[in-house]
Amino acid sequence: MRLDKLLCHATGLSRSQAQKIIRRLEVEVDGVAVRDPAMAVDAATAVVWQGREIKLSGPRYFMLNKPQGVVSATVDAQYTTVIDLLDEGNLRGLHVAGRLDIDTTGLVLISDDGEWSHRITSPRHRCEKSYLVTLTDPLDDSLVEQFAAGIELKGEKGRCKAARLEPLTANTARLIISEGKYHQVKRMFAAVGNHVVALHRERIGGLPLDETLAEGEYRALHEEEVRLF
Ligand code: URA
Repeated sequence: MRLDKLLCHATGLSRSQAQKIIRRLEVEVDGVAVRDPAMAVDAATAVVWQGREIKLSGPRYFMLNKPQGVVSATVDAQYTTVIDLLDEGNLRGLHVAGRLDIDTTGLVLISDDGEWSHRITSPRHRCEKSYLVTLTDPLDDSLVEQFAAGIELKGEKGRCKAARLEPLTANTARLIISEGKYHQVKRMFAAVGNHVVALHRERIGGLPLDETLAEGEYRALHEEEVRLF
């Protein structure tokens, strides 16, 4: 890898900032100040800047408890994003593995490992997502079967994949789906004449939201949690 690229990835500096500090002879490679941003380095090269060894960190994985009013984007001109809630020096490459609507709360996974995120979001992998749903109107008993048979969404050909609906109270239910169509849960209930007033994601695949995380808080995933996907 090029020296300037390593500096960008490891520190969050822009490519032009990295090139400037290299040209100012601020960076040492194997003990010698170097001037060439294109110099080839690898994992065995000792790169030092400001007295600190510069190393590429491995991929990063986080879970966050998303509050309402926060968008699942990387940048947004108007709203706070889930990435803004991370207190990490270097945010480069971090993205959301499966978005939630601005008014949906709960589990959001964030990583800079694109292949890992793809296994969560790609329809081919059929990763389950479990939601707690609050509705305006009482649930009717026939819905469990209708959801299992596949709901037809307005404006879409074909049915949704079978979904598991578990009524909890008259107006609340757990819904488990294995796809991630746009506004899917809200549209599924709209298709049966009901309306979602609150939505919370409690689980993705085998990974539940850590209940010790207050809204807006996040933590790194443990190794065994990363390996679930
Ligand atoms: N389905 C929705 O309608 N909204 C979400 O945020 C997630 C799933």
